[in-house]
Amino acid sequence: MQSWLPFPESASTLSGEVDALYFYLWGVTAFFTLLIYAVVIYFVIRYRRRNPFEIPRPIEGSTKLETLWSVIPLLIAMTIFVWGAKIYFAQYRPAQNALEVYVVGKQWMWKFQHATGQREINELHVPLGQRVKLIMTTEDVIHDVFIPAFRVKTDVVPGKYTTEWFQATKPGRYNFFCAEYCGMNHSGMRGYIVVMEPTEYENWLSGNASGASPAAAGRGMYESLGCVSCHGANAEGGRGPALMGVYGSKVVLNGGQSVTADEGYLRESILNPQAKVVTGFGPIMPSFQGQISEEQLLQVVAYLKSLSTAKPESATAKPPPPSAQPSAQPKSSPSPKR
Ligand code: CUA
Repeated sequence: MQSWLPFPESASTLSGEVDALYFYLWGVTAFFTLLIYAVVIYFVIRYRRRNPFEIPRPIEGSTKLETLWSVIPLLIAMTIFVWGAKIYFAQYRPAQNALEVYVVGKQWMWKFQHATGQREINELHVPLGQRVKLIMTTEDVIHDVFIPAFRVKTDVVPGKYTTEWFQATKPGRYNFFCAEYCGMNHSGMRGYIVVMEPTEYENWLSGNASGASPAAAGRGMYESLGCVSCHGANAEGGRGPALMGVYGSKVVLNGGQSVTADEGYLRESILNPQAKVVTGFGPIMPSFQGQISEEQLLQVVAYLKSLSTAKPESATAKPPPPSAQPSAQPKSSPSPKR
């Protein structure tokens, strides 16, 4: 955006369009404000009372005029609606073929974990020119990830996963803020998105030894929580349904309905297994509510996703075997360019 305007920098593929719509709204508003003032002043002069005994001619209304002042505003409102809907869909449809980053908000900090295992707090490094998808939840109250330079903003809600995506167009350090009042240090719940050239980003990733990737850590949780005893050592199934390839597939439930096994479904089935029991299985699974943190839950979900052969969001991305060790390459969602 022009630097003479007190406006945040424009640094994502979405920000130009959002700004254009904003200035269009601003322009329409300014135009009609001026028009109405001008007409008011003109009428005051044109139809002023010229002598004390003047009686104006009665006016009975005008169908033509009334139609005109209904249809024109309708058409203008529709341009705003159509344009706004177009941007809304572009922004809130989950991104395809994106680099996935797991985000957990808590009072009062942001925790990030890359698919390759690197963790960050209140700072997130991302590559330039690549879609980045944040898969977000919170350990306590509602927070909100707001990145003004990218013109994106999404609530982070307890008990579910929400997503936000962006594709940065300029390297740099950009502020992000919590944009949902969440208690005493809400205003301090902020940090930086660091956008780097792709090669620099690869160096950064490999320079930050990471411990286990989320999928590998999830594999560990899968074993230590005893999931193996019902779902099998390699998630091939047993007393419980097979989990191999379940992510992204249609699951038929007891009762006949079917659901798509997305992140939200996997999460619900771990915390509240009786909610959606897979057809052919009894409601025998215990709840893991209270035994697993949001971060660990994301890791188990990442593990289950890594077992999937058909990913709904990036059909071309081949997941690693569960035994794969963390490396410098983003695994669960490689760049389409690579
Ligand atoms: Cu978190 Cu406001």
